[in-house]
Amino acid sequence: MHAPKVVVEGLCKVFGSNPQQALDMLAAGATKDEVLKRTGQIVGVHNVSFDVREGEIFVLMGLSGSGKSTLIRLVNRLVDPSAGKVLIDGRDVAAARRSELTALRRKDMSMVFQSFALMPHRTVLSNASFGLEVAGVSRKERERRAMEVLEQVGLAPFAYKLPSELSGGMQQRVGLARALAVNPSLMIMDEAFSALDPLKRKEMQDVLLQLQKEHRRTIMFVSHDLEEALRIGNRIAIMEGGRLVQVGTPQDIIANPADDYVRAFFDGIDTSRYLTAGDLMQTGAVPIVSEIDAANVAATLNGSAGYAFVLDGQRKIRGFVTRDAIGNAAPSMRPIESIRRDASLDHVVARVVASPYALPVVDDHGCYCGSVDRAHILKAITRSRGSHV
Ligand SMILES: Nc1ncnc2c1ncn2[C@@H]1O[C@H](COP(=O)(O)OP(=O)(O)O)[C@@H](O)[C@H]1O
Ligand SMILES: [Mg+2]
Repeated sequence: MHAPKVVVEGLCKVFGSNPQQALDMLAAGATKDEVLKRTGQIVGVHNVSFDVREGEIFVLMGLSGSGKSTLIRLVNRLVDPSAGKVLIDGRDVAAARRSELTALRRKDMSMVFQSFALMPHRTVLSNASFGLEVAGVSRKERERRAMEVLEQVGLAPFAYKLPSELSGGMQQRVGLARALAVNPSLMIMDEAFSALDPLKRKEMQDVLLQLQKEHRRTIMFVSHDLEEALRIGNRIAIMEGGRLVQVGTPQDIIANPADDYVRAFFDGIDTSRYLTAGDLMQTGAVPIVSEIDAANVAATLNGSAGYAFVLDGQRKIRGFVTRDAIGNAAPSMRPIESIRRDASLDHVVARVVASPYALPVVDDHGCYCGSVDRAHILKAITRSRGSHV
């Protein structure tokens, strides 16, 4: 297990001349509104702790004003904390000197904002390579790297155009390309796709997910849109009034929203769409036999079990044997299709309705990890639709 990329511990930010007074009130349980009324100090972030793991997309979600932007500015130290600390790769960001910070921001962190000025008189290529230019990379090298990322985001044919010749969505891709070109170990994206219309936004989410498949980066992504968070987040942190109310995987949050504030984000969203075979599977519902024992299947198929999956030594699915086979000298193994752990609910439903048997679920290596069947899937869908919609 890697050390976390980012560790945030007891982080607080109070905007105003007397943060200590506000911090004392908060420690005694006062809310952001009470602090503002009594002291005039604005609570940006209060007592927030979490880790961001290497290679994950960590989404910060919450209503406008809940402290998302302040929190990520504390992470890259554009804002100084009133209390608490931030570690990046185990280094305390608050203790870093100016020069170290500048180097950190140039080399290790990239920011993508909702709207950031592309330089209108520079080409797309020159805009995309700007971060590298600031970092002092030679012209030839930076243009080569910028071209590479323009290809990745589908903008290579537009490299020598000016930003004004591109649509809004394409301009946003230039921003993404600029951030990617420096190949940062941490990308920070603040509402990067929020200004785009829903179609373009989904397109950018797909670009990001595809890039993530090719090259896993650690990304902190701010969004006020739960559907976006569910689509792209490996984990989601939900903020309210400067506090962190819940951190978890999309599935954790769908299954167990911490409170009504979190639940309200689900209004009008069919959360079952975000469940995968891995979320829906059961373990231990279907007996397992090894290839060698498949002939002695009677011993395994006691009680109610009508069939068993047959696994090889690497836990790969070989097929299945049924109770009918008992008594036969050599019960024949029959083939069965398996479902990938990350398959969507739609895929799972289409497969299980067509199968009288439970289907095995396999991980990335094709190893058995559980099973899905009609009755169980139906229950899971009804539960998630019933409670949120
Ligand atoms: N520079 C600042 N000075 C005073 N208050 C600020 C400043 N920046 C943010 N705030 C306040 O901090 C709170 C959190 O803001 P922000 O982090 O921008 O929220 P979000 O990004 O979730 O919309 C808000 O109440 C906001 O008004
Ligand atoms: Mg913001």
